[in-house]
Amino acid sequence: MFARISGTGHYLPNARLTNQDLEQRVDTSDAWIRERTGIRERRIAGADETVVTMSKIAAQQALQAAQLDAADLDMIIVATTSAERAFPSAACELQHALGVTEIPAFDVGAACAGFMFATSIADQYIRNGQARHILVVGADVLARLCNPNDRNTIVLFGDGAGAMVLSANETCGIHSTHLHSAGEFADLLGSGHANPRSDASGQVPGANEEAWLYMKGSEVFKVAVKKLSQLVTETLAHNQLEQGQLDWLIPHQANRRIIEATAKKLSMPMERVVMTLEYTGNTSAASVPIALDVAIRDGRIQRGQRLLLEAFGGGFAWGSALVTY
Ligand code: ACO
Repeated sequence: MFARISGTGHYLPNARLTNQDLEQRVDTSDAWIRERTGIRERRIAGADETVVTMSKIAAQQALQAAQLDAADLDMIIVATTSAERAFPSAACELQHALGVTEIPAFDVGAACAGFMFATSIADQYIRNGQARHILVVGADVLARLCNPNDRNTIVLFGDGAGAMVLSANETCGIHSTHLHSAGEFADLLGSGHANPRSDASGQVPGANEEAWLYMKGSEVFKVAVKKLSQLVTETLAHNQLEQGQLDWLIPHQANRRIIEATAKKLSMPMERVVMTLEYTGNTSAASVPIALDVAIRDGRIQRGQRLLLEAFGGGFAWGSALVTY
């Protein structure tokens, strides 16, 4: 049995934060940000928007696209590291918001790679026949975890949610998933805080510098390029595919230069790479499902095509999926 993508959806907050806005705040420039990252603007969640409210909209779109009701689901998995609360999980809150109960619902935390980990878990349940329809969501509000005065991080991160329904299918779907983690890199990228608004003392984390998201960007960059190169090679080899036999690369949207290096490794022209980061920034666990949904809805990705999804992030944690759509 295969886990096939039966529907996708996504949500981006209305508020835009442009490079020009950031020029007013910190010592940076639109030219530097565009050249070093490829980002022009990102969306920022409003005061009343959370991982759960954004996930709900993305999930409803995905269910509609799959022509399913929430009652058809056998499981809900939310990939996030920025939910409002440590518990109940965002997945339990989403389950309730979708009006269903009893089915297992849980969060997966693997930072920007969370959606790949959640997808892999869902794939196992469908593959072994224990579930027929699983909702997999990636949602984060990492812009909230960034120190507003830190030009190293605020230029990169945006907020959003993406969702995908996986359904049992006898002919095709996910062929393989590949996951890796390396905890020894914890000092290069992380956040001391699950969510700044839930600080036990009632203060925002500015009072404690260690609570903000920290990143040694150029060191993360080097490891990301190397590990993603190994990952896509591993994914192709496992499926006995050659370079050039993929229709689309749907990468994590962290940095244009990282994506270009991965595409080069796959000998894929950039026209076959789905890019949203110019207007989304890095939306962490939401980035791959947002890009996937955008390219499905605009008609680029067609049924029967071969897709490679991949992401790399804090942990470090990284993963991929080879899929026939
Ligand atoms: N604006 C202007 N100048 C800046 C900025 C900025 N926002 N940030 C850094 N600079 C300066 C630096 O101070 C440095 O100046 P110097 O040469 O005078 O010392 C210069 O620009 C180059 O700095 P680097 O850090 O070497 O720049 P780099 O080319 O590496 O780009 C970036 C930085 C964009 C952060 C890049 O390293 C990157 O994208 N890293 C990977 C991020 C990533 O993939 N994260 C993983 C996912 S996130 C997750 O899991 C939560």
